Amino acid sequence: MGTAAEYIEARIPVDPVVAIVLGSGLGGFADCIENPSVIPYEEIPEWPQSTAIGHAGKVVAGVVSGVPVIALAGRVHLYEGYTPQQVVFGLRAMDLLGVESVILTNAAGGINPEFTPGRLALIADHINLTGVNPLTGPNDESLGPRFPDLSEAYSKRYREIAREAAKAMNLDLPEGVYAAVPGPSYETPAEIRYLRTIGADLVGMSTVLETIAAVHMGMTVLAISCVTNFAAGVTPNKLEHEEVLRVGAQAQQTLTELLKRVLPRLTE
Ligand code: HPA
Repeated sequence: MGTAAEYIEARIPVDPVVAIVLGSGLGGFADCIENPSVIPYEEIPEWPQSTAIGHAGKVVAGVVSGVPVIALAGRVHLYEGYTPQQVVFGLRAMDLLGVESVILTNAAGGINPEFTPGRLALIADHINLTGVNPLTGPNDESLGPRFPDLSEAYSKRYREIAREAAKAMNLDLPEGVYAAVPGPSYETPAEIRYLRTIGADLVGMSTVLETIAAVHMGMTVLAISCVTNFAAGVTPNKLEHEEVLRVGAQAQQTLTELLKRVLPRLTE
């Protein structure tokens, strides 16, 4: 991580305070970054390369709404064969850069029927069903404690800020519980019934490992899902990745507007 962070630091004129991870089909936010410094992932030493379609694979640093930010456009997933530690590599590099707040975005399936395709939703809590944890193994005390508390993994204050920003936009922004699964196959209808029973509103294949690593390092987390489809069995329709990307692309403008309004308030 150290080498990657040094490489990035030497190539960006700003000192970013907020990192934004852009999920499947949601890379468009990077286009609104002013005075952007762009670094493709493949140039950064040790940086895991994303192979998923819809993930651009670049770091973009600059300014949004007066706030120095750094966006990670594209992330790597467990289903690509990466280890949990590789999945959180980018976040750990952000910590070394001095970033204290992180906004995680993702595409998710809606389990709760109120979470309809095209809507944005705040993640209030998560259920980690990936079967793994990025903190497994010897604890690096320089990063954080052995047993980090996750009772407020998704900052209440940040969610309040996001809700207020959404209200000013006349945007409905429900909150829900995100269940993370390893993928890459979508869930079966029986699995979705199970997830609903255990209290999940949304399902996806990312974010929770990053949240765990970020909280471990003392970062404050805001996470926003773009509901791209009804989860399996909620409607008779089949799930397709192209649909996920298409709906994500349609929601990008709203997400960008929301983030522009939220950003200056995160650093108050
Ligand atoms: N399930 C899992 N991950 C997803 C989904 C889904 O329905 N939609 C977008 N990412």
